[in-house]
Amino acid sequence: MAKVAVIGGTGMNRWPGLEIVRQQSFDTPCGAPSAPVAFGRYAGVEVAFLARHGEGHKLPPHRINYRANLWALREAGVKSVVAVAAVGGIAAELPPAAVAVPHDLVDYTWGREHTYCDGVVLPLKHAEFTEPYAPRLREALLDGARRAGVAVVPRGVMGVTHGPRLETPAEIRRMRQDGCDMVGMTGMPEAALARELDLDYAALALSVNWAAGLGSGDIHGEIETFIAEGMAKVRAVLTEALPRL
Ligand code: HPA
Repeated sequence: MAKVAVIGGTGMNRWPGLEIVRQQSFDTPCGAPSAPVAFGRYAGVEVAFLARHGEGHKLPPHRINYRANLWALREAGVKSVVAVAAVGGIAAELPPAAVAVPHDLVDYTWGREHTYCDGVVLPLKHAEFTEPYAPRLREALLDGARRAGVAVVPRGVMGVTHGPRLETPAEIRRMRQDGCDMVGMTGMPEAALARELDLDYAALALSVNWAAGLGSGDIHGEIETFIAEGMAKVRAVLTEALPRL
């Protein structure tokens, strides 16, 4: 049984190298996940894989049923979740194609179904979130990167915006003042829901562009140029990290 799941985002709607053995659709108390969960082997390890944006990348970040996604993975017997997320770089160390393992986050999303622990799906609970990313998983990713010879930024703060539009330069300046090193649209409520279900969760963030106001001004062009190079690094890190989880 797969104990580890990878959630793939933009640039990883499919996972080259994953030998899929079976796929399973789940029905959860919170509705349907983005896609069937694929079970198979990667680098000799049994893993589950879920395409966050659904097959054909149809779901925008604010329409993803994060609650159903995490519930389905837990139902599948998964204990640890590695979330691959494309982000915009805010910190100077995160140009396009750089990889980071964030250690903290700021949630700017609104109006998403963001909890199970509301007394409806599960009893009320104030999940502790001092360390939003599981240290054990973060260490495994950093160790995997070292072994793969992939340079990674070993920590950083992920700011999560609501999307689907990109940010304004003023919003990015504010995020920088808030301490954010990178900006994505899917990191929350995903991380918090994993915590509520007692799943270990860590993110492998791939910068695919400079955040608004910091780069060439052609964000989509940057993404197109750098995503393949960055995803190759992500796969190399996973190849070394997954067997050690
Ligand atoms: N902003 C928000 N989310 C993103 C970005 C960005 O610049 N790039 C990739 N995901």
